[in-house]
Amino acid sequence: MKFVIGNWKANKNTKEVSRWADDFLKLDLSIFQDKITLVICPPFPFISILKERFNKFSFVKIGAQDISPYEPGTHTGEVTAYSLNGLIDFAIIGHSERRSQNNESEETIFKKFEMARLHNIEPILCIRNAQDSYPETIQFLMYEPPEAISTGTGRGNTTSLKDVLEMKKMLHIPSHIKYIYGGSVNPDNAEAFLKNDEIDGVLPGGASLDPQQFYQIATSAL
Ligand code: PGA
Repeated sequence: MKFVIGNWKANKNTKEVSRWADDFLKLDLSIFQDKITLVICPPFPFISILKERFNKFSFVKIGAQDISPYEPGTHTGEVTAYSLNGLIDFAIIGHSERRSQNNESEETIFKKFEMARLHNIEPILCIRNAQDSYPETIQFLMYEPPEAISTGTGRGNTTSLKDVLEMKKMLHIPSHIKYIYGGSVNPDNAEAFLKNDEIDGVLPGGASLDPQQFYQIATSAL
């Protein structure tokens, strides 16, 4: 099973989300059944809308781009794993943009990881290099070197397949852990990653904003 995880980042409004869903639903999604899991990670306000739109496709999952490290309570503005339980299956944790723009420490990231697990959400933990650590109980590890992240177009300095595989070896990742690559993944380069047995999926950002490109990326895994 390969995973194609779209990270929409801080993009789109209600109208644009409806249009994305309309356009994506016009495509033949049945080809992914039992072969590929698609995970759409929109900004928080659109999680419910997308969950409803894609409810009948068991292979389309909704994810969050982050979750709070806190339990419910007096934490104004936080979105907790407790609140998200039942709405999402996955949460991206420790994305390099949050580490740098929001000063997220490894301690906070690990708290978020635990919180997700506690509330039935599978964390997709992002690491930038071999120095970033990850909990032993991890199931989904995403390798994304910050220099490979695009400016929103999906077309930056993609890491070579060789480097992505080398990192996996360096990290001593056991085979039961899903190893995902992110960083300027687009319809032109996705196949090389997705057809490799050592890589379990990709996480496109910029390219996932366009339903056609997201679809093309997923089809290259078939
Ligand atoms: P990108 O973003 O595909 O636009 O490089 C990936 C990410 O940062 O999640």
